[in-house]
Amino acid sequence: MDKKKAGGLTLGRSEVLSRAIAASAKAVDATLEAVLPRPHGPQGRVQEAMRYATFAGGKRLRPFLVLHSARLFGVDDAHSLRVGSAIEVLHTYSLVHDDLPCMDDDDLRRGRPTTHIAFDEMTAVLAGDALLTIAFEILADENTHPDPAVRIALVARLAEASGHDGMIGGQVIDMIADTMKAAEKFGVDDVVNLQRLKTGQLFEFSCEAGPILGKASAEDRARLRAYAQQMGVVFQITDDLLDVTSTAEKTGKAVGKDAQMGKATLVTLLGVDGARAEAHRRAEAAVAALGPYAARSPELSGLPLFLLDREA
Ligand code: IPE
Ligand code: IPE
Ligand code: MG
Ligand code: MG
Ligand code: MG
Repeated sequence: MDKKKAGGLTLGRSEVLSRAIAASAKAVDATLEAVLPRPHGPQGRVQEAMRYATFAGGKRLRPFLVLHSARLFGVDDAHSLRVGSAIEVLHTYSLVHDDLPCMDDDDLRRGRPTTHIAFDEMTAVLAGDALLTIAFEILADENTHPDPAVRIALVARLAEASGHDGMIGGQVIDMIADTMKAAEKFGVDDVVNLQRLKTGQLFEFSCEAGPILGKASAEDRARLRAYAQQMGVVFQITDDLLDVTSTAEKTGKAVGKDAQMGKATLVTLLGVDGARAEAHRRAEAAVAALGPYAARSPELSGLPLFLLDREA
């Protein structure tokens, strides 16, 4: 049964997940508040923009994955929340730059004007750069983990996940895929590869952070990575579905943009039903990849199907 008692109430799976995500978001927001600089001096404007982009009500899913993958290995929440804040600021930087006129050219993000609209382009580029670099400063700090080898492993994995063969690689392919799609040279496998990089890599880091922090076995790390690989695709397919089926009010960002920009997505290649079926298959594969950890973490095992039904 998908039911759980809470305060005398019987909750369905989706309510349990929503509450768990809200609780972890609250905790990571408190950590973000502590690690982000307060605006000071002549550089105050860029620090203000870093805070503006970060404290705008994102879903905080990547920190949720860090927290729950870490709990599987007995890691102290104080450590995983710092890693969660690092991945969240790095993700926020990717959104600030993704919205720039030279990329997706969007005016609305997380229900507010995008950073380059609220400030200016120069400030948005620099605030993004500063959010990227502070992520590594947070990981390198001894408060993140007492063992320097663990901190180095986190830094190395995040650098790999966010770089040229990771998120940036995916963003580049996303930007040039429209011309390849027009020439019918960009199929389903190409889209899945693009999604594994642009979205999946940050999910992979988030899920591998738990076993890294907990010094778990290579086998356990591979399980969490396999779960994240499927989850990244599920998440990006639903993002692409929402671009077609949802509203700016619900998502906090413009919709209908992918078709307008000729983006290559599984929705454009397979249609809404085909893309949803593919995401469903992958959501089940994600849970299967967890093996024995599926039963130990209802948060991780419930998330793929929960995300598939999300409206924002
Ligand atoms: C949006 O990510 C960018 C994608 C990878 C699709 P989220 O949907 O997690 O954005 P926030 O953090 O909740 O705003
Ligand atoms: C962005 O993907 C993924 C990033 C790495 C920033 P999208 O361009 O689809 O994200 P949204 O729809 O603008 O949030
Ligand atoms: Mg984009
Ligand atoms: Mg975009
Ligand atoms: Mg999108």
